[in-house]
Amino acid sequence: MTRPFLLRGIRRYGAGEPVNLLVRNGLIAELGASVDGTGAEIFNGGGLVALPGLVDLHTHLREPGREDTETIATGSAAAALGGYTAVFAMANTDPVADTAVVVEYVYRRGRDIGLVDVHPVGAVTAGLHGQRLAELGAMATSAAAVRLFSDDGLCVHDSLLMRRALEYACGLGGVIAQHAEDPRLTAGAQAHEGRVAARLGLAGWPPAAEESIVARDCLLARDAGAALHICHVSSAGTVELLRWAKRRSIRVSAEVTPHHLLLTDERLSGYDPVNKVNPPLRTAADTEALRTALAEGIVDCVATDHAPHAAQDKDCEWSAARPGMLGLQTALSVVIATMVQPGLLDWRGVARVMSERPAQIGRAADQGRPIAVGEPANLVLVDPDATWTVHGVQLASLADNTPYEGMELPGRVVLTMLRGQVTTEDGKVQG
Ligand code: DOR
Repeated sequence: MTRPFLLRGIRRYGAGEPVNLLVRNGLIAELGASVDGTGAEIFNGGGLVALPGLVDLHTHLREPGREDTETIATGSAAAALGGYTAVFAMANTDPVADTAVVVEYVYRRGRDIGLVDVHPVGAVTAGLHGQRLAELGAMATSAAAVRLFSDDGLCVHDSLLMRRALEYACGLGGVIAQHAEDPRLTAGAQAHEGRVAARLGLAGWPPAAEESIVARDCLLARDAGAALHICHVSSAGTVELLRWAKRRSIRVSAEVTPHHLLLTDERLSGYDPVNKVNPPLRTAADTEALRTALAEGIVDCVATDHAPHAAQDKDCEWSAARPGMLGLQTALSVVIATMVQPGLLDWRGVARVMSERPAQIGRAADQGRPIAVGEPANLVLVDPDATWTVHGVQLASLADNTPYEGMELPGRVVLTMLRGQVTTEDGKVQG
């Protein structure tokens, strides 16, 4: 049994009077607790906003296979420092997470490290080859209890295979997370198809490559009565398709990344591959539509697509560079800058899009819970008035490919707690 912990003077969801919150045996034991007589360790949270621990549906931890760029340990540390208490680790590792053995390895490693709950995502197709289904059932019934399946990095583009995947996953109580990209339309693509790519001489990635797959998959999900999740929505057109599907009660959910909320293809003019990402940064009209859709709930949640890459895969010419950017330690600040400061979301809304909805979509039952007595003490305390300057080398990830290098961002994670254990405090990993 661990010593009780008292968070003094915190503001739940940034609203109402400050309260003292007592944590005992991993649970929220009391709200409005007295400071005296509990024997608790006291943390002074005066003025800090308390949110349920953040949940990331889309993290690349790179272990097994590319431990030079990230490990489950370093990625877990980055996540906890960013305010997360759970992450979903994508399947495009080496070996691919397409069997019970690999997902159990990732799950157990995450549990042993203990900084965040690591939920392995299972591949949809064996080896991510898009030819035949992976062992969805074996992964679902393994110790890792996989419920989210994705070939992310690649699209499940064969429509019959996608249909079967949706049907199988539905039977397992799971969801297929689609990386929506018609590969025929993006062969050789390097940047959003538009004015900037034309000026820079980069082959274009048309929004229709995403939108056509989203439209098709919504129809397949409708017919199967199955749950579909759309990864990293990047275009205004996709938002309209999601609106159409949700109005018809099709079981579709969607995520947007912090970088697609903030950055546009105007960043590409210096040809710095740190800005290369898949799907690509698009236009200001797209970021605008994505912010509105997130506020309205048409896009359900924020997911980082945290994608660490080795220096040699980023410090090279544009066409040779790998797509992807770090995201775990900067996500909350970017959401504050793009959604809270402009008045599109309040803190309750942040809890919804960064904790509650992702936990529901990923079927992580004890995450994304209300800050209420009897609930698991998965919490993050945020200083809403602080700012910080991003330096890639100071981030916990092994890689340093952040697009926010040198930028001053609002909001600072002060403390993260997983089931009553402090995982990070003042920018330092605990324990
Ligand atoms: O930019 C990206 N990087 N997009 C993806 O879908 C995959 C990811 C990666 O694994 O690096």
